[in-house]
Amino acid sequence: MSKLSLSQINIYPIKSCAGIALSSSKVEQKGLEFDRRFVLTTTNGTFITARTDSTLCLVQTEVCATGLRLNAPGMPELTIKYSDFSDNYQMVKVWEDNIKGQYCHPKYDQWFSQYLGKTCKLVFFGEQSKRQVKNSQSQVSFADGYPFLLISQQSLNDLNSRLATPVTMSQFRPNLVVDNSTAFEEDTWKKVRIGEIEFEVMKSCSRCIFTTVDPKSAKKYQAREPLTTLQKYRKDKKGDLLFGQNLIALNTGKLTLNDEVVVTEKQAPTIYFDQTPTSARRHRNLASQLQASDQAATKSVEIVFSSWDVKHQGNNQTSILEQGETAGLNIPFSCRAGICGRCKVKLNRGEVRNLNVLNGLTEQEVNEGYILACSCIPQTDVEITKS
Ligand code: FES
Repeated sequence: MSKLSLSQINIYPIKSCAGIALSSSKVEQKGLEFDRRFVLTTTNGTFITARTDSTLCLVQTEVCATGLRLNAPGMPELTIKYSDFSDNYQMVKVWEDNIKGQYCHPKYDQWFSQYLGKTCKLVFFGEQSKRQVKNSQSQVSFADGYPFLLISQQSLNDLNSRLATPVTMSQFRPNLVVDNSTAFEEDTWKKVRIGEIEFEVMKSCSRCIFTTVDPKSAKKYQAREPLTTLQKYRKDKKGDLLFGQNLIALNTGKLTLNDEVVVTEKQAPTIYFDQTPTSARRHRNLASQLQASDQAATKSVEIVFSSWDVKHQGNNQTSILEQGETAGLNIPFSCRAGICGRCKVKLNRGEVRNLNVLNGLTEQEVNEGYILACSCIPQTDVEITKS
């Protein structure tokens, strides 16, 4: 059998924008060189991703001597120069982390604001920026939580063998792709050496709605694939849909395509839970019944998050999860697509509109008043408690 080898090295210089395939890369503690060093934020510093602004994935990035060169549909080419960056740092919120980010320049904000059709800012992970990986001394830049994501080609092949329309590796945005393994063999790795770099596997990667976006068109795939299929065989007991492994590097150096991959320590893989076709069908029927036909005109509603002791003046257009996040709450979530059930909350009062076709709740949970915060939009004043 052929040896395990490194078959792809990818970087994504601006979070959620298109990736770049490399033949070699410098490995820094906070990730591959140039990977996720930039992020877009709202005016109040909350990070923006393609989960909500899917056309970000159409922004093509090229690393050049002075910075980055960007191209996007309908936009003039933009060159980002490090020499233009301001000396000001401002707080950026990426998930639960508050990070000091270096503000770049208003002209870059204008370009992105015009492209996305909303006001945003470009921020750089500068010399003063620090962000520690959870349960580790390692650093990470603006990636979701870990500096490296590894997936084996055989895991993707296995997933595609279950799909009517195959998906591409780029939908999962790995930094490192390994070839010649068996499907999901990476789940069993604890430490791995690739070329001259030692990596430690920290956590399986929980997949979200971004994987349902076609990177070439920014359109969502039908039937929320591949999440719908991952739900059937890659769901852990918390409801996370796992695909790929997050790593930290134990030393720095260089990676090159075709580097040999040697597993130096193994671990027991996570156990996955199947969802039977019968229960999936039942969920679909329930969700259809709950689905409202027309979207209501915009109005203000009060959302009382009573378990958090927070009242939020919100709207009838955005999910309860997003409005909770705007109010500064950390409501658990994983897929943000109504599949995994992680964002389950109880609706004590009021009415919501349910966006889901596949509803990650059991019939009993629905009868008891539970809803999925990622997929329900308040239609009246509502009161929400923790599940
Ligand atoms: S986050 Fe997965 S169902 Fe809401």
